[in-house]
Amino acid sequence: MSLNNIRININMKTKSLIFAALFICCGSFSRAQTSITVAAGDNAANPTISKYIYSHFAEHLGHGIYEGFYVGDTSHIPNTYGIRNDVIAALKKMKIAALRWPGGCFADTYHWKDGVGPRDKRPAIINKWWGGTVEDNSFGTNEFLNMCELLGADPYISGNVGSGSVQELSDWVNYVSSDSKNPMSDLRKANGRDKPWKVKFWGIGNEAWGCGGNMTPDYYSNEFRKYSTFMTNWDNDNRIYRVASGANSDDYNWTETLMKNIPNDLIEGIALHHYAIIDWGHKSSATQYTEQQYFATMKSALYMDTLVTRHSAIMDKYDPKKKVGLIVDEWGGWYDVEPGTNPGFLYQQNTMRDAMIAGATLNIFNNHCDRVRMANLAQCINVLQAVILTHGDKMILTPTYYVMEMYNVHQNATQLPLVVKSEDYILGLGKLPAISASASRDKDGVTHISLVNIDPDHAHKISLNLDGKKFSSVKGNILVSAKVQDYNSFDEPGKIAPKEFSGANLKGNNISISLPAASVVVLALN
Ligand code: AHR
Repeated sequence: MSLNNIRININMKTKSLIFAALFICCGSFSRAQTSITVAAGDNAANPTISKYIYSHFAEHLGHGIYEGFYVGDTSHIPNTYGIRNDVIAALKKMKIAALRWPGGCFADTYHWKDGVGPRDKRPAIINKWWGGTVEDNSFGTNEFLNMCELLGADPYISGNVGSGSVQELSDWVNYVSSDSKNPMSDLRKANGRDKPWKVKFWGIGNEAWGCGGNMTPDYYSNEFRKYSTFMTNWDNDNRIYRVASGANSDDYNWTETLMKNIPNDLIEGIALHHYAIIDWGHKSSATQYTEQQYFATMKSALYMDTLVTRHSAIMDKYDPKKKVGLIVDEWGGWYDVEPGTNPGFLYQQNTMRDAMIAGATLNIFNNHCDRVRMANLAQCINVLQAVILTHGDKMILTPTYYVMEMYNVHQNATQLPLVVKSEDYILGLGKLPAISASASRDKDGVTHISLVNIDPDHAHKISLNLDGKKFSSVKGNILVSAKVQDYNSFDEPGKIAPKEFSGANLKGNNISISLPAASVVVLALN
């Protein structure tokens, strides 16, 4: 190597070092902050964020119903009619809006008459989808609807289309909702319930493209029309809301075919299912995941925005007045089951990753509330992305629970549109928007803004502009932990819980915020 070459090499090395230093230094100084503009002024024409976006799902699966909600009235665990008192109190505090039941895949194998009447006369069946366990039918229609009354939640029943009949489903509607003299209301009365419960929300089958019968969209459309015709608004003021089994994630053809084939007066809602999952063949551990796995899960979760936008656009073509709701009746993170647990029980822990999924997804739903009228997190207790985990008489609240509780201020509030220009969360060659947000004004005039920073490595600065209204105070709560993999366990149940947030400063019509890595914040403005 000549002397000249050496000089050139040194020069190049020095230059690239200077360049790298400048890049790192200026990069961190000039890291452009995220900007958010909220249209905070007149909101008379804005849509309402339906409280039903804050709904849940409970299937006869693993320890979701049995040991989760229901321990039976002879249990030593404090209960009301067999429903755990700790669970009732926690879900009421979270303001659970509606509860979908009994499935899921289980719904299309379920014959409701097996689950009513004296418990010792109810037949036992095999739960063929979930672990092959014996289902003794001790928790049935009366138990579910009485439980919903205790929870203050509206019931959402998934009817059996796959292996049931039109008569069976219309009988079920009559059993729970009819006031007049007929065999089904007589049966209800004989089973100890005089007054009907009046169930509004009904799913007509579940995942008809898969476990619900492997149907084509054309075939299912016809089935839906037939079932829906006989699910009438019986003899009282109960208006039934009929939800068609919807698309699997980005199966846009499913939505298009149903919207084209089903007359507007036979349908009130169409479902959508999407899970935040890396790959069905290679899921991650619920707690021991790498940042690559975290990134891939968040990418799948944020895809919900594309899904809701595109399914809504299809619905707009056939239903420009937006009469039919998009009902995202299964969503959430899906990981490997906890080591040593039954693979058919889908029991997984719940970390700050789940809080990120919940916060970001609820922001998406709030921002699309003109079409998204209900969403049901899968599933409520001990299954998938649960808000509650139980073990014997112990119960813990997960990070997802706290996000649901913090966000309940948006229920039935008026949506305030916002524009988010987010900084990126970068991992290797991949990037995702780090910040998501949604905003609303409640009936008392308080404005709430929910913010999520999914970036597990950096705090992000946000400049939040409030257009059209002056505010005099801001306060907030934050959910954050040292590591995104952190979770509440039965040994350390209080590790993660919301705390007061002091990182928001209001000056004129601007709030400057420093949002810690992997955190969820909800601000209240007066
Ligand atoms: O939530 C678990 C299962 O996921 C449901 O039973 C089914 O509808 C979906 O595939």
